[in-house]
This record gives sequence, C-alpha cells and structure tokens, in this order.
Amino acid sequence: MLSSIDEQIISQITSLGELDKEYWSFSRRSKRTHCHGFIKYPAMMVPEMQGELIDIFLKHKPSIKSVFDPFVGSGTTMGEAIVRGLDFQGIDINPLAILACETKSDVFYISSLEEKISELNARLGNDKRDTVDVVFPKINKWFIPRVQLELSKIRRAIMVEPSKWARRFFWVALSDTVRGACNSRTSTYKLHIKPLDELEKLGCCFELFKNKIKANFELKKQQMSLLDSKGLLLRSALSSDIDLSISNIQSPPKKSESCRHDMLITSPPYGDNPTTVPYGQFSYLPLMWIDTADLRNKVPAKLLENASAIDRASLGGGLKGAIKSVEQLRGMSQSFSSSIDSLLKFDNNAPKRLSSFINDLNDSLDGMLYRIKSDGYLVWTLGNRHMSGQKIPLNEILRELLEARGCQFVVEIDRAIPHKRMASRNSSSQTMNEEQVLIMRKR
Ligand SMILES: C[S@@+](CC[C@H](N)C(=O)[O-])C[C@H]1O[C@@H](n2cnc3c(N)ncnc32)[C@H](O)[C@@H]1O
Repeated sequence: MLSSIDEQIISQITSLGELDKEYWSFSRRSKRTHCHGFIKYPAMMVPEMQGELIDIFLKHKPSIKSVFDPFVGSGTTMGEAIVRGLDFQGIDINPLAILACETKSDVFYISSLEEKISELNARLGNDKRDTVDVVFPKINKWFIPRVQLELSKIRRAIMVEPSKWARRFFWVALSDTVRGACNSRTSTYKLHIKPLDELEKLGCCFELFKNKIKANFELKKQQMSLLDSKGLLLRSALSSDIDLSISNIQSPPKKSESCRHDMLITSPPYGDNPTTVPYGQFSYLPLMWIDTADLRNKVPAKLLENASAIDRASLGGGLKGAIKSVEQLRGMSQSFSSSIDSLLKFDNNAPKRLSSFINDLNDSLDGMLYRIKSDGYLVWTLGNRHMSGQKIPLNEILRELLEARGCQFVVEIDRAIPHKRMASRNSSSQTMNEEQVLIMRKR
C-alpha cells in the first residue's frame, strides 16, 4: 500500500511531467559542471536530474541522510549527494570508475593543486628520456611509438609527485588523454582500430593532457567553492562520509553494512557488457598507463589481466549455468518469462545472455536491499535494450523481481534521452532513445 509520503512524491513527480512534457528529458538543462566533467565514462547519468530527484525525496522525507549506489560508475549520484551533504556508499567492479569517484570526492587546497600542476609541467618539459615505461599485450596495436613515448613521460612526471591525492587527480586527466591518443576509434566503446589515415593525424599527448588538467583544475575549483559556500567542508575534509569500493555487487555484504542507508539511487547496466556497453574495454587502455596502486582501494590483479576481464566479471559476463536459472526467474517475473519465450524462437545465444544477466542482477538484489533501511526509497534509471529485434522490458522485470521481495512500487518516469550518450556504433543500444526511472520502496 502507498504511504502518505509516497503519495506526495508521486504527486510532485507527475505534476512536473504534466506541466511540461519535456520536463524529465532535461534536454536544455544538462551541463557537466564541477566534478561531473572530470572524466569521460560510458552511459553517465544526467547530474541535474539525479540532483532534482534527490531534492524531491529530501523535501518529502527530510530524515534522509545517506545514499547507496551499487553501480556507481563515474559517480554522478555521488557528486550530487556530496553537494547536499549526504553520506554516500558506492560500489563498482571497474577500478577506473572508483578512481574517478575517489578524485571527485578528494578534498584539498586548490592553491596546493595549482603548485603541483606547475611542478608537473616543469618535469614534463625537462624529461629527455626516450624509454617506454609500461608493457602489456598488444601495446603496439593500440599505441603508435610516438604516443608510447609521450605517455611514458607523462606517467613518469606523475609518479614523482609525492602526494597521492594529486597523483589521483593527474591519473584521471591521463585517462581521457589515453582515450584521445590511442589507436581505438572514439565512435565505439569497444576497442576497435582506427583507419590508417586517422592514425597519422593523432594529436600530441602533452597538449591533450595539459588541456585536460587545466579544465579539471577549473572544475575542481568550482566544486570546492560550491561545497565551501554550502558549509560542507570541515577544515580540509568533506563533512559527508564517503565509502567507495571496487567489488562485485553479487558478493555478500558485510554484517556492518546492514540497513545503513536511507535510499538507493543507481543506474545498472542495460544488459551484459559485451553486447551493450563494454565498460571494461573502454577502461582497459587507460588502466594500463595508470598506477592503480594509487587508488585507496586495492585493485584485484585479475581485473587487469586482459581487455575483457572486467566485462567478464560484470553482470551477465559469464554464460555458464545461465539456463539453469530460467525456471526460478520465470516464477518471479512474468515479463522475464515472456521475453525469454520471444527470444527462444531465434537460433542464437540471446536467451542465454538475457538469463545470465537477469540472473546476476537478481542475485545482487538481496545484498542491495540488505544495505537499505525499511521504508527506504529505491530509484533506478533503466534502459530497455533490444535483443533479436525484441524490446527487453528491464523496468518491468526489475519491478517484478523487487515486488517478489515485498517492495512497493511507487511511480515510474518515462524520459526521452535528449542526445545520444551511447556510442553510435554499438548496434544493440543504438535503438535506445528513452529511459525509465523506476521508483520503489523497501518495506
Ligand atoms: C550505467 S553504468 C553506471 C553509470 C553511472 N551512473 C554514471 O553516471 O557514471 C553501470 C555500472 O555498473 C558497473 N557494473 C557492472 N557489473 C557490475 C557488478 N557485477 N558489480 C558492480 N558493478 C558492476 C559497471 O562497471 C558500470 O560502471
């Protein structure tokens, strides 16, 4: 049954959408300000929308003090939670995502950062060594010799910096530099070699890196003054408590994590990484140049073994045993059952891929709910992908899996995606131009 707070939330959300049909698309209202512009990451959420949703929940339930994002990615929810003084826990299997979140939540004096940037630039100018400092399989396929030398100089200049927070800030800028200077196309998140004539036009890494550092410096300055103006900095630390971990969300939570958070706000993957958004492949090349020992979180070596290791460890990444779970899932979700039936008509591995992904998502739900207090709200931004030409209703499947656990459906927002945030060459997500925001409540 709906509570009176649910009714107030529904009324505010639906009336905003009724007054302006485009309201939830955020078409002219989406900008990547402060920490949200630090790094390119696939399928980032719209910060303004997540911020506005948090405000709606805070208005009707002011007791909300902490937020959990089990698929934190580059930390859009986290950035918005921090500027509202909320405590935050974020989990992601991808070390690059957690590095981005660590830098976004790092607090330091802007004047110190300014000094460290000029020292870094001086080191870059003085380095006359001609050696390549990293070794990994297929390095020559993904980087031309000049780029390898330039990236090595940048890496050396960062490694000499004594403060970890500054090194983390520089590694994040290096991530976009590596993506911009590698031989992989930018039109796809998958590693896919550029045509030869484009390789000849690859820009200078120093220029890419220095421009990124300059831009990120301004963004960090913006974030720090925003936090300061809201009284959210205590000496040189955030007033919120931030807990980030590189972990598979299917792993059982610790006892100490029980019922810690007032709400969950997240966007899970739309399907298995290899056929939707390969977050791991996107992150692999930057991770080969970054010294991952600088993350506050220890990075499991197996995640860096090759370009597909992160994707294989992600939801739906393994197809073994996928079919075994179908009958149990059918019993919990009618929408899953109909989707599988429609896919079984085709002679391909789509049924296996769907059941593996939904099985992994289902397996992770108990651990997520364990971390949320009773009556805590759950806000899911979801995309419905296509498989074998059939639309897979992830919003309905997830709703049914949560209802099977006693959760209350509150409301759903259907929103148009204003500009394509998907890589255009990714055929399975190309057809996605709308999203759903599913809002439920744990009982
Ligand atoms: C849609 S993205 C999140 C994007 C994020 N909301 C943002 O704005 O940047 C989904 C995330 O789920 C993560 N993921 C996939 N499988 C996971 C798993 N088993 N455990 C934890 N994280 C996982 C991916 O690495 C990816 O960062």
